[in-house]
Amino acid sequence: MASRLHWDPALGRTRQLREAGSRGPPILSSRENAVIHRKLMSIRWSSRTTQFKLNTGADIPALGFGTWQDKEAQEDAVTIALATGYRHIDTARVYGTEAAVGAAIKKSGVPRSELFITTKLWNNSHHPDDVEPALDASLKDLGTDYVDLYLMHWPVAWARGEQLRPKDENGKLILGDTDYIDTYKAMEKLYKSGKAKAIGVSNFSRAEMVRLMQNTRVVPAAHQLELHPWLSQPAFDNFHRNRNIHVTQYSPFGNSNPVYTKGQEMPKLLDDPTLKKIGEKHGKTPAQVALAWGIAHGRSVIPKSKTKERIQANLEGDFKLDEDDVKKIDEMNKRLRFNDPSQNFRWEFYSDLDGK
Ligand SMILES: NC(=O)c1ccc[n+]([C@@H]2O[C@H](COP(=O)([O-])OP(=O)(O)OC[C@H]3O[C@@H](n4cnc5c(N)ncnc54)[C@H](OP(=O)(O)O)[C@@H]3O)[C@@H](O)[C@H]2O)c1
Repeated sequence: MASRLHWDPALGRTRQLREAGSRGPPILSSRENAVIHRKLMSIRWSSRTTQFKLNTGADIPALGFGTWQDKEAQEDAVTIALATGYRHIDTARVYGTEAAVGAAIKKSGVPRSELFITTKLWNNSHHPDDVEPALDASLKDLGTDYVDLYLMHWPVAWARGEQLRPKDENGKLILGDTDYIDTYKAMEKLYKSGKAKAIGVSNFSRAEMVRLMQNTRVVPAAHQLELHPWLSQPAFDNFHRNRNIHVTQYSPFGNSNPVYTKGQEMPKLLDDPTLKKIGEKHGKTPAQVALAWGIAHGRSVIPKSKTKERIQANLEGDFKLDEDDVKKIDEMNKRLRFNDPSQNFRWEFYSDLDGK
């Protein structure tokens, strides 16, 4: 059979290449074919999607998939998301969706190395002795031996124990006495051991960020916070940029989340005429424009949806807006914050931030 040797970058070795027109058995086994196919798919995909660099040197895909709420729907939702091409999944211990995420990943066959998985430490596990066991429990449910990003979900510590919402006999939430500095120091150890490839925080105020950085060694790789065109927080966004801390926008669709009681009596962010007009120019929906705006500012966005068409459409929010589009969306800022559980959580959040 006419053949010659050929260096195959996808396989990482030489292989026999059959000359055109020659006959004979296929040169690549089905396993080799599958390896090449997977590599080509991932090359094609990663060149199409925006990635940002964390201060650890790792890449984080700009567009991720949120998994808070609709617990029962999450395995299917994440399965659709992975098949559509999402490679960044956001979950948290308290969402109860880590096992669903783990099952969907396993079914998908997407190699672990292609995924960026974020999960979060819950408020009942802030004591330094509880931090590693909490991550271990998350890893077990996720079916992996490391996370790409581990976040302290909130700066407040609650009482230690199994209860996610520890309450006294009068139904009052019981606070813990661990300082978030000590919690973060325990997270630094997980970063050093490699169980968490990066560590960061969520829902911190400016003063809490400053105090954290003054008292710990590892600069947070990311801060996940509420941010959308009605709460753009330009000064706080700059605060992070100046310190090389990546910002991930949660609730990128503002008051679309039905649990946000504050936003129910007003029009939806996604009905805003500016987003609609800019969308018409690009052949995109207001939701896609809202996501593209966050990405244009160098932030990740993690929209959640349990609806197949929306899951697919939201991924197309990774596109380039014109500079004047970005400016117009910047001007939409109303300092409107929808997620502020200060009263329920017994901690005054965001005290020095917009929308308080
Ligand atoms: N760190 C934190 O404290 C924190 C807090 C909040 C959220 N998060 C993370 O951020 C993720 C996203 O935030 P979020 O869930 O609050 O809100 P979101 O992603 O801004 O909005 C989700 C809501 O919008 C709907 N939706 C999705 N795509 C849509 C589209 N294209 N057009 C119209 N409506 C659409 C969804 O409905 P359907 O599902 O019915 O399609 C859902 O009701 C969460 O899932 C979670 O992972 C983190």
